[in-house]
Amino acid sequence: MLYRPRRLRSSEAVRSMVRETRVSADSLIYPMFVIEGENIKEEIEAMPGQYRYSIDRMGECLEEVIAAGVKSVMLFGIPAYKDEIGSDAWDDNGIIQKALRAAKEKYPELYYITDVCLCEYTSHGHCGALCGDHVDNDKTLELLARTAVSHARAGADMVAPSDMMDGRVGAIRNALDENGFINTPIMAYSAKYASAFYGPFREAAGSAPAFGDRKSYQMDFHNTDEAVREAELDIAEGADIIMVKPGMAYLDVLYRIKEKFKMPTALYSVSGEYAMIKAGAKLGYIDEEKMICETAACMYRAGADILITYFAKEIAQYIKKGLIG
Ligand code: PBG
Repeated sequence: MLYRPRRLRSSEAVRSMVRETRVSADSLIYPMFVIEGENIKEEIEAMPGQYRYSIDRMGECLEEVIAAGVKSVMLFGIPAYKDEIGSDAWDDNGIIQKALRAAKEKYPELYYITDVCLCEYTSHGHCGALCGDHVDNDKTLELLARTAVSHARAGADMVAPSDMMDGRVGAIRNALDENGFINTPIMAYSAKYASAFYGPFREAAGSAPAFGDRKSYQMDFHNTDEAVREAELDIAEGADIIMVKPGMAYLDVLYRIKEKFKMPTALYSVSGEYAMIKAGAKLGYIDEEKMICETAACMYRAGADILITYFAKEIAQYIKKGLIG
C-alpha cells in the first residue's frame, strides 16, 4: 500500500503536527449579563455556571475571564425599567453604559463589545419599536443608531447589532461616523436565525417576546442563500466582521459565508448549545470537557475566525492544557 493515512495518526506528536485547525484563546469572546441593582450574582437556571451580575460584582466575572486568558467580553444589559421603545438602551446612564464605564476603568486590558438590540429593553420584548403588532423597521433604525453611539460614548470598543432590521448596519455606521467614532468596528449578526436555541438566553435576559415570535425579522432556519444575501448587504453597509448564529447546527451557513466573502467571520455558540452540553453532562450521558473541546474545534474548522461562547473560559484553559489546539 502506497497510501496509509493512519501513518499520520500514529502518535499525538504527529497528529498535532499535521493538524489543520489551530485554536487560540485570542479569538474567544465571553458573553455576560449585567443587571441593575446591588450585590447580585444570580445563577441563570437553564445555564448553570452563568450568572447575572450587578455592576458592583461584575468584577468577579471579569477577573475570571482575565485569569483564563480570554481577552474580550460581550455585554448584555438587563435594565431596571422597560418601555414601549426600549429607551434604557440609549440612555447614557443605562445599564450597559454604566457597566462599561465601571469595567473599562477597572479592567482596561479587556476588549469590550456590546450587543446592540432593544429586546431586553422593550416592555413587549420585541427587537424594535412597534407599529400595531408589527416591528417598524425604519423607525427602529434610528433607535439602534442612538444606542450604538451611546455605547461607543460610554467606552464600547466594538458594537454588535443583533436585531436583524434591514439597513441597520448602514444606519449605525453613519451615526458612529457622524459622532466621531470612525474607528469603532461593527460586528454584524448577519445571519441570525429565529431559533429555539435562544431559549435559555431569553430567560436570562427576560427578553422573550410578549406576543408572537421573531420570525418576521430573524431568519428562517430552512435557508442558506438568504444568509449569503444578508451577509452581502451587511458588508456593503460597512460591517467589519460578520456573524452566524446559532453555532453548532449552522456550520454549513458559516462555511458558505466564509468561503464566499473571506471576511473576518464570527460564530455565536448560543445559550441553548451551552444548556444542552451542561444538561447532558449533568445526567452523565456525555463527557462535558470532551464535548466542549470537540464542538469548539469543529466550529473553527468550519470557518470561524472568532468564537463567541459561554464556554470561553473553559476553552482557554483547555487550550493551555493541550486538550484542544
Ligand atoms: C438579542 C440577542 C439574543 C441573543 C443574542 N442577542 C436573543 C434573541 O434574539 O432572542 C441570543 C444569545 C443566546 O441565546 O445565547 N436580540
